[in-house]
Amino acid sequence: MCGIVGYIGTNAAAPVILEGLSKLEYRGYDSAGMAVYDGNQIQIKKSVGRLKVLEELTHGGATMPGVAGIGHTRWATHGAPSDVNAHPHYNAQETIAVVHNGIIENYLPLKDKLISKGYTFTSDTDTEVLAHLIDYYYKRTCKDGTEGNPLVAITKVMHRVQGSYALGILFADHPDQIFAVRKDSPLIVGQNEEGCFIASDVPALLKYTRTVYFIENQEVVRLRADHMHFYTVDEEEITKEPVTIEWDTDAAEKGGYEHFMLKEMYEQPKTVTDTLLPRLKNGDIVIEELCMTQEEICAIQKIFIVACGSAYHAGMTGKYVIEGIARIPVEVDLASEFRYRNPILEKGTMVIVISQSGETADTLAALREAQQRGHKVLGIVNVVGSSIAREADNVMYTWAGPEIAVATTKAYSAQLIALYLLAMKFGKVRGTIEQTQFQEMVEDLRRLPGQIEMLLANKNRIQRFANRYVGAKDVFFIGRGIDHAISMEGSLKLKEISYIHSEAYAAGELKHGTISLIETGTLVAAVATQNMLFQKILSNMIEVKARGAFVLAVTTQGNTEIEKAADYVIYIPDTNPYFTNSLAIIPLQLFGYYVAVGKGCDVDKPRNLAKSVTVE
Ligand code: AGP
Repeated sequence: MCGIVGYIGTNAAAPVILEGLSKLEYRGYDSAGMAVYDGNQIQIKKSVGRLKVLEELTHGGATMPGVAGIGHTRWATHGAPSDVNAHPHYNAQETIAVVHNGIIENYLPLKDKLISKGYTFTSDTDTEVLAHLIDYYYKRTCKDGTEGNPLVAITKVMHRVQGSYALGILFADHPDQIFAVRKDSPLIVGQNEEGCFIASDVPALLKYTRTVYFIENQEVVRLRADHMHFYTVDEEEITKEPVTIEWDTDAAEKGGYEHFMLKEMYEQPKTVTDTLLPRLKNGDIVIEELCMTQEEICAIQKIFIVACGSAYHAGMTGKYVIEGIARIPVEVDLASEFRYRNPILEKGTMVIVISQSGETADTLAALREAQQRGHKVLGIVNVVGSSIAREADNVMYTWAGPEIAVATTKAYSAQLIALYLLAMKFGKVRGTIEQTQFQEMVEDLRRLPGQIEMLLANKNRIQRFANRYVGAKDVFFIGRGIDHAISMEGSLKLKEISYIHSEAYAAGELKHGTISLIETGTLVAAVATQNMLFQKILSNMIEVKARGAFVLAVTTQGNTEIEKAADYVIYIPDTNPYFTNSLAIIPLQLFGYYVAVGKGCDVDKPRNLAKSVTVE
């Protein structure tokens, strides 16, 4: 995700900002920029590409003199990576500069309102709206030519804006101060004898200070060279307690977590929220990027979902959800197969490709194959401006932020949300679900982030269980219906990071061969969240248990009958049957992670694997 740095003090700001941004590179980004007050005006330099480009552009900051400034590394969400979309963004007079991490959910209506007041825009970003909105309110605080009041302008904006933001703000009228503002996106401030600092994360400050203040939601900080003041959104001054950071830099980049994979698992409540909420408007589902009329949605005869690995598993869930809710036939294909099997794509067929990286060669090839056959392709992609995002006819972004660990977790969870939203949108338009059912499902979706958070809190129990299986040779994951889809993902999570052989099976398929592999002590993880199929999966559990298996069950709370067939049970909270994969995957992710940690594997960079498979 984006990274923010700010400095005001006795030293040159630009080199401090560049140094701080370099410590945030691990967060993933596609462009960088900074704004520095040079004693006369705000100088702004920004460019697409690595931080090195900005360093060369500014000769290591030497061409941007001044002791107050803000800087940014951008992970694109709204607007593809480009110089003009890079931060900082600024008002027309370049007297106010802003850097932002987060998503402004209501930026479009705010942009329309500003345009109606004569504002013009140069970028496609939600952040530029903030720059002009601050300008608008700041100008309203200026009386008879006196300087305006930055704090009042900022708090006015905070009352108008919906979404998540961590901001650094610089006012040319007030060069003796910089401002930091936070809602939902992380932001910290710190101080030493040479100045005060803003940063998105601890690594950017460790070189200068280990004493930091974690900014809370709806708080504003005014930083001067030798002191800071903290305010609420109602401009009331407050005091805050500093925190001393004990982490080293490596641990700090992981936010104190041992691995990026664990950190990203714990980001899932936020990534589910970020992918979901901007598309829930006034009780309806609005997927602007779908660009399909109601007639076009009603005309869909069949959907192909094409992807690889975990994205393919998400597609398998998508099949059950779209067919179940919207009653549209769905075929899910491995991209490496789709591109060579001369698929039959008839009129009325919609093709959806799913890819976290947006660079997977097989998936990109499948997209081109579908387009060559005259079909439009919708991409569900996490990386803005990636090849698949650029070549798809329409893109529905997952807003999971950059995913560093090779084994996907938060992006996979965000893909599930995107597929639920599509299924419900199609179902509502095609009239296959009633309004009351639709509203109940929307409420179930809203509850998912909190339920995921609750399951993540259960990690110690799962870690203890996982430690018993670090020596396992074979593990089987079984499920029926939508639980089969999640057992595929649970199996992949285990094998790709622990190197233990693992397979997923449709539970009803066991007796057609696989059950011969079950020996005494073989671990079988049975996912049993579908009440309609509960008795069936229970029988399968009894079958394998009779042959010596140790049965781990993942089921919905209340299904205590399962304890007669399972040796170890993990309960997940109750939700709509179509959404249980979003919850069942959490203990399975944690299980795979802790088995791999117990084996001493390189969890974030498993052997032989790449984060993005850009070759065949
Ligand atoms: C999942 O943990 C793996 N990293 C891998 O299966 C991955 O899902 C697959 O390579 C597809 O990648 P993509 O989503 O970037 O296209």
